[in-house]
Amino acid sequence: MEYQILKIQISDRIAVVTISRPAALNALNTKFFKEFNHFLDDLEPREDVKVLVLTGEGKAFVAGADIAEMVHMDSDEGYAFSTFGQRTFDRLEQLSIPVIAAVNGYALGGGCELAMACDFRVASKLAKFGQPEMNLGMIPGYAATQRLSRLTGLGNALYLILTADTITAEDALRIGLVQKVTEPEMLMAEVMKLASKIAANGSQAVATSKRIIRAGIATSFQHASELEAVEFGKQFNHESTKEGMKAFLEKRKPDW
Ligand code: CAA
Repeated sequence: MEYQILKIQISDRIAVVTISRPAALNALNTKFFKEFNHFLDDLEPREDVKVLVLTGEGKAFVAGADIAEMVHMDSDEGYAFSTFGQRTFDRLEQLSIPVIAAVNGYALGGGCELAMACDFRVASKLAKFGQPEMNLGMIPGYAATQRLSRLTGLGNALYLILTADTITAEDALRIGLVQKVTEPEMLMAEVMKLASKIAANGSQAVATSKRIIRAGIATSFQHASELEAVEFGKQFNHESTKEGMKAFLEKRKPDW
């Protein structure tokens, strides 16, 4: 497929996808979702890519779902637009490799929802976050009503969605919506440093950690702890676990 909105670069086991539709502040339209699903089809079976980074071109990460596309929709089309986006973001969240959002600018509405479907978020000082759908007389449609409260707590989710306020990267850091804030020019360097660190870890342990952390919050503590113990046991069948411990004891770097 020839991509028109996505720019994809893969090197040193890290894929960087830049959403590039700067004239519309990278607003998410159906074309974006088709391209992104196609990219995920290609990515999922690959074993050489260990981390995915998402960012946006220009002054926005993503300024939301495409209002110019939504304005013509009826109820059935709105439902289809929402479920297509939700399924895509679920797919992103469930990738076996970690996904980092490098939030370079506006992450509003669907853009904040996309960032929240990533495993964690690093933001430029210039980034702005919010769910401004109320200003359009609508509710969020790509699961902000669910992910925002899980990430930041009920009060922050209700505050952000009901007021439609836009907040700074520092405020997003304070409420746990982002994990790190950088100078704008240092954003990609910092994200690539974190991505390289993760890519250098044993991929089996990285994938299992991601899977059980995510599975655990959807179930009881007891059930999730049992899941952890089962997975902890299973890893002793993996060469990479044996190698990690041996390398420590032999005072050398592990050879995964
Ligand atoms: N959809 C479509 N086009 C958008 C857009 C969006 N979400 N956001 C920005 N654009 C377009 C603008 O229409 C404008 O296009 P033209 O040059 O053709 O007029 C271009 O991008 C540049 O935008 P502005 O001139 O508005 O730029 P600005 O710097 O003055 O303002 C902004 C930036 C504050 C982000 C402003 O663009 C804005 O408020 N955008 C809309 C944000 C929004 O409401 N997002 C939520 C969308 S609804 C949603 O996402 C629902 C869901 O959950 C599924």
